[in-house]
Amino acid sequence: MKKIGVILGSVREGRLGEHVANWIMEEASTREGVEYELIDLAAFNVPLLTTATIPGAANKQYEDQNVAAWSRAIDACDGFVFVTPEYNHSIPGGFKNAFDSLGSEWAGKPVAFVAYGADGGARAVEHWRQIVANFSMFGVRNQVSLGLFDDFANGEFAPRDIKVGDRARVLGDIEAALA
Ligand SMILES: Cc1cc2nc3c(=O)[nH]c(=O)nc-3n(C[C@H](O)[C@H](O)[C@H](O)COP(=O)(O)O)c2cc1C
Repeated sequence: MKKIGVILGSVREGRLGEHVANWIMEEASTREGVEYELIDLAAFNVPLLTTATIPGAANKQYEDQNVAAWSRAIDACDGFVFVTPEYNHSIPGGFKNAFDSLGSEWAGKPVAFVAYGADGGARAVEHWRQIVANFSMFGVRNQVSLGLFDDFANGEFAPRDIKVGDRARVLGDIEAALA
């Protein structure tokens, strides 16, 4: 059975991303014929990339045990859902560092984006689409864009009905990309 990793890409204390990732996993648990796994980046403590060997040339061999565990988790997936906030009109640095820290574990795998921010995290997704292209990853067209002011009323995560439809559509798309 194909496996899709839902990556919770914010590592901040009190991150809103946890609510978003859990909401995706709630829908994922109803899907049949495919396995979803929540991959919490914060649990891996991926260090800042300082190695002389470029990860793309490391053949999945890493001295750092945290990077090795991160590599195994990503390698085990056939596709991904990136749950990403927008930081300073782009993607979070910690998530980019974790992406950069691996190589062929990502290669050729499809990815869907679930973003959040003042404008639905749209700028973060556009940047991700450029980045994942370097590993020939296929970014599915549809995405979920959650607004800080529209879907997180008074600090509570309460997505609008239309976003519930977007969630199902995006999971359908990533599953189709794997079929
Ligand atoms: C360093 C930083 C930069 C941010 N820059 C933006 C931004 O450019 N656009 C935006 O919509 N939100 C921005 N925000 C607000 C985040 O969207 C909001 O804090 C969100 O909760 C972050 O996701 P997280 O809580 O899962 O880490 C920024 C937040 C941080 C921490």
